[in-house]
Amino acid sequence: MSIEECKEIAARAALAEVLNEMVLGLGTGSTVERFAELLSSEIKKGLRIKVVPTSYHSIQMALKYGFEVLPIETVDKVDLVVDGADEVDRKLNMIKGRGAALAREKVVAYMALRRVYIVSYDKVVDKLCSTKPVPIEVLPFAYNYVMKKLRELGGEPELREAGRFKDGPLITDNGNFIIDVHFKPLDDPHELESKIKRIPGVVEVGLFCGIADVVYVGRPDGLEVLTNS
Ligand code: A5P
Repeated sequence: MSIEECKEIAARAALAEVLNEMVLGLGTGSTVERFAELLSSEIKKGLRIKVVPTSYHSIQMALKYGFEVLPIETVDKVDLVVDGADEVDRKLNMIKGRGAALAREKVVAYMALRRVYIVSYDKVVDKLCSTKPVPIEVLPFAYNYVMKKLRELGGEPELREAGRFKDGPLITDNGNFIIDVHFKPLDDPHELESKIKRIPGVVEVGLFCGIADVVYVGRPDGLEVLTNS
C-alpha cells in the first residue's frame, strides 16, 4: 500500500468526527488535502460546515472545494481542528511547520475544542527530531540573534531558503522567516519548546506538545489510533 493510501486511511478517520454545523479548523499539507477532498463529497451530500483556514494553502483548498470560509481574524473558537504533522511521538508530541504554517496552525489548535491530527505511518517516531528539524518562525530583523541563541541550546539552525522562484529566505504567510533547527533526538520536547519560545524575536515554535487529542495514523495494515489517555 502506498503512502498516499495510508494518508487516506487517516483522513477518513478524521472525517468521521465532522458533524453538521461545525466550525472546522482546516490544517495545511497533503494529508489535509486528502481530508478536504473527502469532506467535499460529504458537503455535496448535504453536510453543512464552515472552515477556518490555517494558511494560504488552506484557503486555496477551501476555495477549490467550495467550503464556506471564516477568516481566522474573525473567530476565537472552533469546534474541531484537523491538521497534519511532520513527526509524532507516542506521547502525541509533534513537529509541525514543514509547510511554514506553524504559527496559524498553533493558534487555531489552541482555539479548538478538539484537536485531531492525521498522518501516514512514516511520521511516527520514538523521539522527536529523529528525522526532522524543528521549524521556528522568527521576525526577520531578529534572525541572526535567534540563530545564535538556538546554537547555545545545542541546535544547528539553518535559515530556510525560498527555493526555485525567489532568491533569499522563504517568507511566511505572516511576512516572517523560518529557521529549521536540527537537534539530537529530544528527551523533553516540552522544555525545549518553552526555552525557544522565550527567545526575543521568536514568533512561534513548531513543537506542538500536549496539544493533540488524537492522532490517526494510516498504516498499510489499517488505522492506528494514538490518544493522550
Ligand atoms: C504545515 O506547516 C505542516 O505543519 C503540515 O501540517 C505538515 O507538513 C503535514 O504535511 P503533509 O501532510 O503533506 O505531510
